[in-house]
Amino acid sequence: MKAKRRVVTASGAGAPVRRRPTVRKVKSAIVPAPPKPAVPKAPASVAARPQPAAPSPEPAERDAAPTSVDLTVDIGRGLVLPNPILVASGTFGYGVEYGDIVDVNRLGGICCKGTTLRPRIGNPTPRVTETPGGMLNSIGLQNPGVGAVIERYADTWAGWRVPVIVNVAGESVGDYVEVVRRLDGVPGIAGIELNISCPNIGRGGLQFAIDADAAASVTAAVRRATDLPLLVKLSPNVADVRPIARAIADAGADALTAVNTLSGIAVGPTRERPLLGNIYGGLSGPAIKPVALRIVYEVSQVVDVPVIAIGGVTELADVLDFLAVGAVAVQVGTAIFADPTLPVRLADELASVCRTRGLASYRPLIGTALPRRASAPSSKGVEYRP
Ligand SMILES: Cc1cc2nc3c(=O)[nH]c(=O)nc-3n(C[C@H](O)[C@H](O)[C@H](O)COP(=O)(O)O)c2cc1C
Repeated sequence: MKAKRRVVTASGAGAPVRRRPTVRKVKSAIVPAPPKPAVPKAPASVAARPQPAAPSPEPAERDAAPTSVDLTVDIGRGLVLPNPILVASGTFGYGVEYGDIVDVNRLGGICCKGTTLRPRIGNPTPRVTETPGGMLNSIGLQNPGVGAVIERYADTWAGWRVPVIVNVAGESVGDYVEVVRRLDGVPGIAGIELNISCPNIGRGGLQFAIDADAAASVTAAVRRATDLPLLVKLSPNVADVRPIARAIADAGADALTAVNTLSGIAVGPTRERPLLGNIYGGLSGPAIKPVALRIVYEVSQVVDVPVIAIGGVTELADVLDFLAVGAVAVQVGTAIFADPTLPVRLADELASVCRTRGLASYRPLIGTALPRRASAPSSKGVEYRP
């Protein structure tokens, strides 16, 4: 018999996930950012950019400012996040590692490290290197396997208010389905995020994410295996992501996450071989933000499911940019290595900016940079000529 699933809802018992917006006069609409604890030093190129001081509201805006801002977001199938700032898979472990420095319950959601059917030791070293504006990684999905993940972490997750979304990887449709079957119904698991940027052994190692049919079939198979909210993560390593995004949405995904890392390599210091043990790595960090923005802009116009943006978020301006091109939420990844407290601060800053603008919810910020006509196709994707 399946254990009862914990789904976070707007009215979840004991979980203050939805704050009713009330509009009344307040002295100051700005909530000061919490003091930063000492964190390990990160490479300069991935360090969060300096935070500009939040502007003081004009008197008229102060009068209109609501005291509480509704940051909740429904990403499908009853999964309501308390706020739209999540942490990205592979950059926040299983959440428990950060318990001493981050109040995890103030995050919008946690996407845990990629989880496979069997344990994986990962790729040969070196596995990471710094790049201008980011980093390359080829961790190779090192993880203890789905059984160990459930055994070690699910009880802890079940005690948290923050929804934990398990990122799932595999080498065949059967792998994905089996992992998801094991996760289905386990208390503490609020949703699934499929990492489909993995080689499909059955199709000569072609990644699921670069082919609409392969992406749709793994999505459909997983959809049949679980009622958990299902997010599917798009790869940026394709010429046109829109047919793939549509195929995934049609196959039953509740939401899309965009994007995974961009494929790249670095050359070793002696120039005799590529630097990374696996040769190829995934580029992440501020360097990929324009690519991620373009993809979110394109995808959010061709699917009806929510789109969650990922790629180079280091400050509130990045969050606002992604919302403007249609994302309903964002994930923070590489920037966490520089400052694990950043995602919580971004949620506070998003609320502050809404108060300053007299908004009771952040939703009016979504899609403001999209073409005016709701049904208009993306002109940029068609007209752009490099
Ligand atoms: C060290 C590292 C490990 C990652 N591991 C995973 C993973 O296991 N599964 C996955 O879907 N994405 C993984 N990612 C990709 C991130 O979740 C994210 O999509 C990407 O880094 C872009 O976001 P960012 O620029 O904010 O880092 C990893 C990224 C990094 C840097």
